[in-house]
Amino acid sequence: MDGKNILLIISGGIAAVKVPDLIRKLSQNGAHVTPVLTESGAQFVTQLSIAALARSKVYTDLFSLTDEIEMGHIELSRSADLILVVPATAHLMAKMAHGMADDLASTLLLATDTPVMVAPSMNVRMWDHPATQRNLTTMQKDGVQVIGPNEGEMACGEFGFGRMAEVAEIVQAVEDYFQSGPLLGRHILVTSGPTHEPIDPVRYLANRSSGAQGTALAQALRDLGARVSFVTGPADAPAPTGVEVYRVQTAQEMLAVVQNLLPVDVAVFAAAVADWRVDVTQEQKIKKHLSGALPILNFLENPDILLTISQHSLRPKLVVGFAAETENLVVNAKEKRLRKGCDWIVANDVTRATGIMGGTNNTVTVIDEHGAEAWADMPKTDVARRLAQRIAGALI
Ligand code: C5P
Repeated sequence: MDGKNILLIISGGIAAVKVPDLIRKLSQNGAHVTPVLTESGAQFVTQLSIAALARSKVYTDLFSLTDEIEMGHIELSRSADLILVVPATAHLMAKMAHGMADDLASTLLLATDTPVMVAPSMNVRMWDHPATQRNLTTMQKDGVQVIGPNEGEMACGEFGFGRMAEVAEIVQAVEDYFQSGPLLGRHILVTSGPTHEPIDPVRYLANRSSGAQGTALAQALRDLGARVSFVTGPADAPAPTGVEVYRVQTAQEMLAVVQNLLPVDVAVFAAAVADWRVDVTQEQKIKKHLSGALPILNFLENPDILLTISQHSLRPKLVVGFAAETENLVVNAKEKRLRKGCDWIVANDVTRATGIMGGTNNTVTVIDEHGAEAWADMPKTDVARRLAQRIAGALI
Protein backbone atom coordinates (compact mmCIF):
# COMPACT_ATOMS: atom_id res chain seq x y z
CA MET A 1 0.00 0.00 0.00
CA ASP A 2 3.07 2.22 -0.15
CA GLY A 3 2.10 5.60 -1.60
CA LYS A 4 -1.57 4.67 -1.94
CA ASN A 5 -4.27 7.19 -1.03
CA ILE A 6 -6.93 5.85 1.28
CA LEU A 7 -10.06 7.84 2.03
CA LEU A 8 -11.12 6.67 5.49
CA ILE A 9 -14.75 7.26 6.42
CA ILE A 10 -15.32 7.00 10.16
CA SER A 11 -18.93 6.54 11.10
CA GLY A 12 -20.44 6.46 14.57
CA GLY A 13 -20.02 3.27 16.54
CA ILE A 14 -18.06 2.30 19.61
CA ALA A 15 -15.58 0.48 17.34
CA ALA A 16 -14.49 3.93 16.10
CA VAL A 17 -12.15 3.93 19.10
CA LYS A 18 -10.00 1.44 17.15
CA VAL A 19 -9.60 3.86 14.26
CA PRO A 20 -6.57 5.77 15.65
CA ASP A 21 -4.68 2.47 15.79
CA LEU A 22 -5.82 1.66 12.24
CA ILE A 23 -4.58 5.02 10.95
CA ARG A 24 -1.24 4.46 12.67
CA LYS A 25 -0.81 1.02 11.03
CA LEU A 26 -1.91 2.15 7.57
CA SER A 27 0.49 5.10 7.76
CA GLN A 28 3.34 2.85 8.96
CA ASN A 29 2.74 0.78 5.82
CA GLY A 30 3.20 3.87 3.66
CA ALA A 31 -0.44 4.72 2.90
CA HIS A 32 -1.69 8.31 2.92
CA VAL A 33 -4.90 8.46 4.91
CA THR A 34 -7.46 11.22 4.35
CA PRO A 35 -10.09 10.99 7.08
CA VAL A 36 -13.78 11.84 6.77
CA LEU A 37 -15.53 11.98 10.11
CA THR A 38 -19.32 11.73 10.28
CA GLU A 39 -21.25 13.66 12.89
CA SER A 40 -21.90 10.50 14.89
CA GLY A 41 -18.29 9.34 14.40
CA ALA A 42 -17.20 12.55 16.11
CA GLN A 43 -18.99 11.32 19.28
CA PHE A 44 -16.39 8.56 19.63
CA VAL A 45 -13.11 10.06 18.36
CA THR A 46 -11.97 13.66 18.16
CA GLN A 47 -11.20 15.47 14.96
CA LEU A 48 -7.94 16.70 16.48
CA SER A 49 -6.56 13.25 17.33
CA ILE A 50 -7.52 11.87 13.91
CA ALA A 51 -5.91 14.83 12.12
CA ALA A 52 -2.73 14.47 14.17
CA LEU A 53 -2.39 10.74 13.49
CA ALA A 54 -3.26 10.94 9.79
CA ARG A 55 -1.24 14.14 9.36
CA SER A 56 -4.11 15.28 7.20
CA LYS A 57 -7.04 17.60 7.23
CA VAL A 58 -10.17 15.84 8.53
CA TYR A 59 -13.25 16.39 6.38
CA THR A 60 -16.54 16.65 8.23
CA ASP A 61 -20.10 17.62 7.50
CA LEU A 62 -19.03 21.17 8.08
CA PHE A 63 -17.23 20.84 4.75
CA SER A 64 -16.82 24.51 3.96
CA LEU A 65 -16.89 26.53 0.81
CA THR A 66 -13.10 26.86 1.11
CA ASP A 67 -12.81 23.05 1.19
CA GLU A 68 -15.08 22.79 -1.81
CA ILE A 69 -12.87 25.21 -3.75
CA GLU A 70 -9.61 23.54 -2.69
CA MET A 71 -10.84 19.97 -3.16
CA GLY A 72 -14.45 19.50 -4.30
CA HIS A 73 -16.28 16.55 -2.72
CA ILE A 74 -16.41 14.76 -6.06
CA GLU A 75 -12.65 15.09 -6.43
CA LEU A 76 -12.17 14.01 -2.80
CA SER A 77 -14.02 10.77 -3.48
CA ARG A 78 -12.27 10.05 -6.75
CA SER A 79 -8.70 10.96 -5.96
CA ALA A 80 -8.41 8.00 -3.57
CA ASP A 81 -7.13 4.55 -4.57
CA LEU A 82 -9.45 2.96 -2.04
CA ILE A 83 -12.31 4.09 0.19
CA LEU A 84 -12.41 2.40 3.56
CA VAL A 85 -15.44 2.70 5.84
CA VAL A 86 -14.46 1.88 9.43
CA PRO A 87 -16.64 1.27 11.31
CA ALA A 88 -19.60 0.86 8.98
CA THR A 89 -22.79 1.22 11.01
CA ALA A 90 -26.08 -0.43 10.08
CA HIS A 91 -27.40 3.02 9.24
CA LEU A 92 -24.55 3.92 6.88
CA MET A 93 -24.83 0.51 5.21
CA ALA A 94 -28.55 1.11 4.66
CA LYS A 95 -27.76 4.46 3.06
CA MET A 96 -25.09 2.90 0.84
CA ALA A 97 -27.42 0.12 -0.27
CA HIS A 98 -30.12 2.63 -1.19
CA GLY A 99 -27.87 5.24 -2.75
CA MET A 100 -28.79 7.94 -0.26
CA ALA A 101 -26.63 11.03 0.02
CA ASP A 102 -27.65 13.18 2.96
CA ASP A 103 -24.26 13.94 4.50
CA LEU A 104 -20.66 14.21 3.34
CA ALA A 105 -19.78 10.52 3.89
CA SER A 106 -22.78 9.10 2.03
CA THR A 107 -22.41 11.69 -0.74
CA LEU A 108 -18.77 10.72 -1.26
CA LEU A 109 -19.73 7.05 -1.36
CA LEU A 110 -22.38 7.72 -4.00
CA ALA A 111 -20.21 10.03 -6.09
CA THR A 112 -17.27 7.68 -6.45
CA ASP A 113 -16.12 4.98 -8.83
CA THR A 114 -13.22 4.08 -6.52
CA PRO A 115 -13.36 0.61 -4.92
CA VAL A 116 -14.96 0.59 -1.47
CA MET A 117 -14.24 -1.66 1.54
CA VAL A 118 -16.34 -1.61 4.68
CA ALA A 119 -15.81 -3.04 8.16
CA PRO A 120 -19.30 -3.38 9.69
CA SER A 121 -19.78 -3.00 13.40
CA MET A 122 -23.12 -3.30 15.18
CA ASN A 123 -25.19 -5.18 17.70
CA VAL A 124 -25.78 -8.84 16.79
CA ARG A 125 -29.56 -8.35 16.36
CA MET A 126 -28.98 -5.43 14.05
CA TRP A 127 -26.51 -7.50 12.02
CA ASP A 128 -28.89 -10.46 11.84
CA HIS A 129 -31.89 -8.34 10.91
CA PRO A 130 -33.20 -9.18 7.41
CA ALA A 131 -32.95 -5.50 6.46
CA THR A 132 -29.22 -5.38 7.22
CA GLN A 133 -28.64 -8.71 5.48
CA ARG A 134 -30.54 -7.43 2.42
CA ASN A 135 -28.45 -4.26 2.41
CA LEU A 136 -25.30 -6.33 2.74
CA THR A 137 -26.23 -8.43 -0.30
CA THR A 138 -27.02 -5.30 -2.32
CA MET A 139 -23.72 -3.70 -1.38
CA GLN A 140 -21.79 -6.84 -2.28
CA LYS A 141 -23.56 -6.95 -5.64
CA ASP A 142 -22.47 -3.34 -6.14
CA GLY A 143 -18.87 -4.48 -5.69
CA VAL A 144 -18.31 -3.35 -2.10
CA GLN A 145 -15.84 -5.59 -0.27
CA VAL A 146 -16.86 -6.45 3.28
CA ILE A 147 -14.31 -7.17 6.04
CA GLY A 148 -15.80 -9.13 8.94
CA PRO A 149 -17.66 -8.71 11.19
CA ASN A 150 -16.39 -11.25 13.69
CA GLU A 151 -18.20 -13.28 16.28
CA GLY A 152 -17.49 -12.23 19.82
CA GLU A 153 -18.35 -10.24 22.86
CA MET A 154 -19.73 -6.79 22.15
CA ALA A 155 -19.51 -3.48 23.91
CA CYS A 156 -23.25 -3.81 24.67
CA GLY A 157 -22.59 -7.05 26.57
CA GLU A 158 -24.18 -9.39 24.01
CA PHE A 159 -22.36 -12.12 22.11
CA GLY A 160 -22.51 -12.96 18.41
CA PHE A 161 -21.71 -11.59 14.97
CA GLY A 162 -21.38 -7.85 14.64
CA ARG A 163 -18.09 -7.21 16.38
CA MET A 164 -15.85 -5.23 14.04
CA ALA A 165 -12.89 -7.02 12.45
CA GLU A 166 -9.60 -6.43 14.28
CA VAL A 167 -7.30 -3.67 13.06
CA ALA A 168 -4.75 -6.25 11.89
CA GLU A 169 -7.43 -7.96 9.77
CA ILE A 170 -8.46 -4.67 8.18
CA VAL A 171 -4.82 -3.79 7.41
CA GLN A 172 -4.35 -7.26 5.90
CA ALA A 173 -7.45 -6.86 3.71
CA VAL A 174 -6.15 -3.51 2.43
CA GLU A 175 -2.71 -5.05 1.82
CA ASP A 176 -4.29 -7.98 -0.07
CA TYR A 177 -6.42 -5.61 -2.10
CA PHE A 178 -3.40 -3.69 -3.35
CA GLN A 179 -1.42 -6.84 -3.98
CA SER A 180 -3.98 -8.87 -5.81
CA GLY A 181 -5.06 -8.97 -9.42
CA PRO A 182 -4.26 -10.99 -12.51
CA LEU A 183 -1.82 -8.34 -13.75
CA LEU A 184 0.34 -8.37 -10.62
CA GLY A 185 4.02 -8.27 -11.62
CA ARG A 186 3.25 -7.00 -15.15
CA HIS A 187 4.56 -3.68 -16.42
CA ILE A 188 2.17 -1.96 -18.81
CA LEU A 189 2.75 1.23 -20.76
CA VAL A 190 -0.21 3.40 -21.74
CA THR A 191 -0.03 6.50 -23.95
CA SER A 192 -2.88 8.96 -23.67
CA GLY A 193 -4.17 12.40 -24.59
CA PRO A 194 -3.38 14.60 -27.56
CA THR A 195 0.03 15.97 -28.46
CA HIS A 196 0.70 19.66 -28.97
CA GLU A 197 3.01 20.52 -31.83
CA PRO A 198 4.28 24.09 -31.45
CA ILE A 199 4.11 26.60 -34.30
CA ASP A 200 5.48 29.52 -32.31
CA PRO A 201 5.59 30.35 -28.56
CA VAL A 202 1.78 30.78 -28.40
CA ARG A 203 0.33 28.60 -31.15
CA TYR A 204 0.25 24.86 -31.66
CA LEU A 205 -1.39 22.05 -33.61
CA ALA A 206 -3.63 19.83 -31.51
CA ASN A 207 -6.75 17.66 -31.60
CA ARG A 208 -9.90 17.08 -29.55
CA SER A 209 -8.66 14.12 -27.50
CA SER A 210 -9.51 14.58 -23.79
CA GLY A 211 -7.37 11.67 -22.57
CA ALA A 212 -10.43 10.17 -20.82
CA GLN A 213 -10.18 6.71 -22.42
CA GLY A 214 -6.42 6.37 -21.84
CA THR A 215 -6.78 7.54 -18.24
CA ALA A 216 -9.62 5.09 -17.55
CA LEU A 217 -7.54 2.32 -19.05
CA ALA A 218 -4.50 3.10 -16.91
CA GLN A 219 -6.77 2.99 -13.84
CA ALA A 220 -8.37 -0.30 -14.84
CA LEU A 221 -4.97 -1.91 -15.48
CA ARG A 222 -3.68 -0.59 -12.14
CA ASP A 223 -6.76 -2.02 -10.42
CA LEU A 224 -5.89 -5.46 -11.80
CA GLY A 225 -2.48 -5.17 -10.16
CA ALA A 226 -0.30 -3.96 -13.05
CA ARG A 227 2.55 -1.51 -12.67
CA VAL A 228 1.44 1.18 -15.11
CA SER A 229 3.64 3.76 -16.84
CA PHE A 230 1.33 6.44 -18.15
CA VAL A 231 2.73 8.72 -20.84
CA THR A 232 0.37 11.59 -21.46
CA GLY A 233 0.18 14.61 -23.68
CA PRO A 234 -1.54 17.77 -22.41
CA ALA A 235 -4.93 16.22 -21.63
CA ASP A 236 -8.03 17.59 -19.87
CA ALA A 237 -8.56 14.45 -17.79
CA PRO A 238 -6.63 14.51 -14.49
CA ALA A 239 -3.89 11.86 -14.52
CA PRO A 240 -4.73 8.67 -12.60
CA THR A 241 -3.25 8.02 -9.16
CA GLY A 242 -1.19 4.96 -8.28
CA VAL A 243 0.61 4.95 -11.65
CA GLU A 244 3.87 6.46 -12.89
CA VAL A 245 2.99 9.57 -14.88
CA TYR A 246 5.23 11.00 -17.63
CA ARG A 247 4.05 14.30 -19.11
CA VAL A 248 5.04 15.28 -22.63
CA GLN A 249 3.95 17.88 -25.18
CA THR A 250 4.99 16.61 -28.61
CA ALA A 251 5.01 13.33 -30.53
CA GLN A 252 8.79 13.31 -30.57
CA GLU A 253 8.94 13.69 -26.78
CA MET A 254 6.33 10.93 -26.40
CA LEU A 255 8.37 8.55 -28.55
CA ALA A 256 11.54 9.25 -26.56
CA VAL A 257 9.84 8.53 -23.22
CA VAL A 258 8.13 5.40 -24.57
CA GLN A 259 11.42 4.02 -25.93
CA ASN A 260 13.12 4.67 -22.61
CA LEU A 261 10.46 2.68 -20.77
CA LEU A 262 11.07 -0.52 -22.76
CA PRO A 263 11.02 -3.39 -22.06
CA VAL A 264 7.41 -3.66 -20.86
CA ASP A 265 4.98 -6.60 -21.00
CA VAL A 266 2.19 -4.73 -22.75
CA ALA A 267 1.94 -1.37 -24.53
CA VAL A 268 -1.38 0.34 -25.19
CA PHE A 269 -1.32 3.35 -27.49
CA ALA A 270 -4.45 5.33 -26.69
CA ALA A 271 -2.87 8.72 -27.43
CA ALA A 272 -4.16 10.77 -30.34
CA VAL A 273 -0.72 11.67 -31.60
CA ALA A 274 -0.52 14.54 -34.10
CA ASP A 275 0.48 13.11 -37.48
CA TRP A 276 2.37 16.23 -38.48
CA ARG A 277 4.44 19.00 -36.97
CA VAL A 278 5.66 22.22 -38.56
CA ASP A 279 9.23 22.00 -39.80
CA VAL A 280 10.53 25.04 -37.93
CA THR A 281 9.07 26.28 -34.65
CA GLN A 282 9.39 30.06 -34.69
CA GLU A 283 11.21 31.53 -31.69
CA GLN A 284 9.01 34.63 -31.73
CA LYS A 285 5.26 34.93 -32.21
CA ILE A 286 4.45 35.09 -35.92
CA LYS A 287 3.16 38.58 -36.71
CA LYS A 288 0.06 39.32 -38.71
CA HIS A 289 1.13 41.10 -41.89
CA LEU A 290 -0.43 44.50 -42.55
CA SER A 291 -0.32 43.64 -46.24
CA GLY A 292 -2.60 40.67 -45.57
CA ALA A 293 0.09 38.14 -46.58
CA LEU A 294 -0.53 34.78 -44.94
CA PRO A 295 2.15 32.78 -43.15
CA ILE A 296 3.21 29.58 -44.87
CA LEU A 297 3.66 26.55 -42.69
CA ASN A 298 5.61 23.54 -43.93
CA PHE A 299 4.77 20.22 -42.33
CA LEU A 300 6.90 17.23 -41.44
CA GLU A 301 5.54 13.81 -40.61
CA ASN A 302 5.80 12.87 -36.94
CA PRO A 303 7.30 9.52 -35.95
CA ASP A 304 4.65 6.80 -35.66
CA ILE A 305 5.13 5.58 -32.10
CA LEU A 306 2.85 2.56 -32.43
CA LEU A 307 4.59 1.40 -35.61
CA THR A 308 8.05 2.01 -34.15
CA ILE A 309 7.33 -0.02 -31.02
CA SER A 310 5.60 -2.82 -32.97
CA GLN A 311 8.83 -3.24 -34.97
CA HIS A 312 11.17 -2.70 -32.04
CA SER A 313 13.74 -5.30 -31.01
CA LEU A 314 12.23 -5.00 -27.50
CA ARG A 315 8.66 -5.32 -28.80
CA PRO A 316 6.24 -5.98 -25.93
CA LYS A 317 4.39 -9.31 -25.93
CA LEU A 318 1.12 -7.51 -26.60
CA VAL A 319 0.82 -4.23 -28.50
CA VAL A 320 -2.58 -2.54 -28.64
CA GLY A 321 -3.33 0.40 -30.91
CA PHE A 322 -6.39 2.62 -31.22
CA ALA A 323 -7.99 3.75 -34.44
CA ALA A 324 -10.09 6.87 -34.44
CA GLU A 325 -11.98 6.72 -37.72
CA THR A 326 -14.67 8.83 -39.33
CA GLU A 327 -15.63 6.37 -42.09
CA ASN A 328 -15.36 2.65 -43.00
CA LEU A 329 -14.46 1.88 -39.40
CA VAL A 330 -13.79 -1.85 -39.51
CA VAL A 331 -12.18 -1.99 -42.94
CA ASN A 332 -9.81 0.88 -42.12
CA ALA A 333 -9.01 -0.46 -38.67
CA LYS A 334 -8.26 -3.97 -39.96
CA GLU A 335 -5.94 -2.48 -42.53
CA LYS A 336 -4.33 -0.31 -39.83
CA ARG A 337 -3.66 -3.34 -37.61
CA LEU A 338 -1.68 -4.99 -40.39
CA ARG A 339 0.12 -1.83 -41.49
CA LYS A 340 1.19 -0.90 -37.96
CA GLY A 341 2.09 -4.44 -36.93
CA CYS A 342 0.21 -4.32 -33.62
CA ASP A 343 -1.76 -7.23 -32.14
CA TRP A 344 -5.09 -5.53 -31.46
CA ILE A 345 -6.74 -2.37 -32.67
CA VAL A 346 -9.48 -0.73 -30.64
CA ALA A 347 -11.48 1.13 -33.26
CA ASN A 348 -14.00 3.88 -32.65
CA ASP A 349 -16.04 6.18 -34.81
CA VAL A 350 -15.12 9.75 -33.92
CA THR A 351 -17.40 11.70 -36.24
CA ARG A 352 -18.56 14.75 -34.28
CA ALA A 353 -22.13 13.42 -34.09
CA THR A 354 -21.03 10.41 -31.97
CA GLY A 355 -19.68 12.76 -29.27
CA ILE A 356 -16.98 10.17 -28.50
CA MET A 357 -13.99 12.54 -28.59
CA GLY A 358 -14.31 14.42 -25.33
CA GLY A 359 -17.47 12.50 -24.32
CA THR A 360 -18.00 10.03 -21.46
CA ASN A 361 -19.16 7.04 -23.53
CA ASN A 362 -17.45 5.03 -26.21
CA THR A 363 -18.58 2.45 -28.76
CA VAL A 364 -15.62 0.35 -29.80
CA THR A 365 -14.83 -2.58 -32.04
CA VAL A 366 -11.86 -4.67 -30.98
CA ILE A 367 -9.94 -6.15 -33.89
CA ASP A 368 -7.44 -8.94 -33.47
CA GLU A 369 -6.11 -11.76 -35.62
CA HIS A 370 -9.45 -13.59 -35.29
CA GLY A 371 -11.64 -10.76 -36.57
CA ALA A 372 -13.75 -7.90 -35.28
CA GLU A 373 -15.66 -7.85 -31.98
CA ALA A 374 -18.23 -5.04 -31.71
CA TRP A 375 -18.92 -3.90 -28.14
CA ALA A 376 -22.10 -2.12 -27.08
CA ASP A 377 -22.03 1.59 -26.28
CA MET A 378 -20.84 1.99 -22.67
CA PRO A 379 -19.00 4.44 -20.39
CA LYS A 380 -15.28 4.78 -21.16
CA THR A 381 -14.56 3.40 -17.68
CA ASP A 382 -16.43 0.18 -18.59
CA VAL A 383 -14.61 -0.07 -21.93
CA ALA A 384 -11.40 0.29 -19.92
CA ARG A 385 -12.32 -2.44 -17.42
CA ARG A 386 -13.31 -4.85 -20.17
CA LEU A 387 -10.18 -4.13 -22.15
CA ALA A 388 -8.02 -4.57 -19.03
CA GLN A 389 -9.66 -7.97 -18.42
CA ARG A 390 -9.07 -8.92 -22.06
CA ILE A 391 -5.39 -7.95 -21.71
CA ALA A 392 -5.10 -10.00 -18.51
CA GLY A 393 -6.70 -12.95 -20.31
CA ALA A 394 -4.27 -12.69 -23.22
CA LEU A 395 -1.24 -12.85 -20.94
CA ILE A 396 -2.18 -16.08 -19.20
O1 C5P B 1 -2.61 6.24 -37.97
P1 C5P B 1 -3.47 6.61 -36.82
O2 C5P B 1 -3.09 7.92 -36.19
O3 C5P B 1 -4.93 6.54 -37.11
O4 C5P B 1 -3.20 5.45 -35.77
C1 C5P B 1 -3.74 5.45 -34.50
C2 C5P B 1 -2.93 4.62 -33.58
O5 C5P B 1 -1.54 4.85 -33.77
C3 C5P B 1 -3.19 4.97 -32.12
O6 C5P B 1 -2.98 3.83 -31.35
C4 C5P B 1 -2.13 6.03 -31.85
O7 C5P B 1 -1.82 6.11 -30.48
C5 C5P B 1 -0.97 5.52 -32.67
N1 C5P B 1 -0.10 6.56 -33.20
C6 C5P B 1 1.19 6.70 -32.74
N2 C5P B 1 2.02 7.65 -33.27
C7 C5P B 1 1.59 8.44 -34.27
C8 C5P B 1 0.29 8.32 -34.74
C9 C5P B 1 -0.54 7.38 -34.20
O8 C5P B 1 1.55 5.98 -31.82
N3 C5P B 1 2.42 9.33 -34.76
